[in-house]
Amino acid sequence: MRLLITAGPTREPIDPVRFLSNRSSGRMGYALAEAAHAAGHEVILISGPVTISPPSGIQIIRVETAREMYDAVRTHLPGCTAAIFSAAVADYRPAHAATQKIKKSATTLTLELERTEDILGSVRSTFGFQGFLVGFAAETENLIPHAQDKLRRKGCDLIIANDVSQSGIGFDSLENEVTLCLPGGHSIPLPRQSKTALARELIAHISRLSSPHAP
Ligand code: CTP
Ligand code: CA
Repeated sequence: MRLLITAGPTREPIDPVRFLSNRSSGRMGYALAEAAHAAGHEVILISGPVTISPPSGIQIIRVETAREMYDAVRTHLPGCTAAIFSAAVADYRPAHAATQKIKKSATTLTLELERTEDILGSVRSTFGFQGFLVGFAAETENLIPHAQDKLRRKGCDLIIANDVSQSGIGFDSLENEVTLCLPGGHSIPLPRQSKTALARELIAHISRLSSPHAP
């Protein structure tokens, strides 16, 4: 596979010293990049700001905002045979980032937010990507119905569904427990394990499912 992977959070500026973001560590995406590289696949990693070190031997494109991640995906997707969207992209950004630091005055402050680009949601419809498409679904309730809905809406071949209401797994953790959601309502639960071990298993599943001879 020639594989594009998005990872980490995005940062949406409020003013020159503040931003909106989320708890993503980037570990799942980086583990996937490392596992794919170790399995002999070519990897392009598009990463939001994270504190972990990049896996060696992998092309990494660093971005900050959802808009920059969208542009980087559009640039690097052609030629890829599969893509995995593990980034925790901010759904909203401040509609007007202040050019100077916002000074405190009133006791409340209201920010107007606007929707960011849905990167994964654009891959089929806008970028015309024909390869094997994998998304994540981070949910706190109704995990499988929400994941199946995302699978259909975003035109994915696979959604890796993640229950982020449980402590110790998912966002910002070393371990994860996911369910693979496939077209036709099929799902495969995978046991709780380290993100490194899970990444190896996920890459093996994706490699098998994306091969033209997959059942
Ligand atoms: N995603 C993306 N661009 C966005 C939002 C999400 O590429 N602006 C991708 C994520 O990387 C993930 C998938 O879409 O692979 C689902 O993300 P999630 O946040 O669970 O879904 P949303 O469509 O944003 O819906 P909601 O947050 O309302 O559940
Ligand atoms: Ca979201």
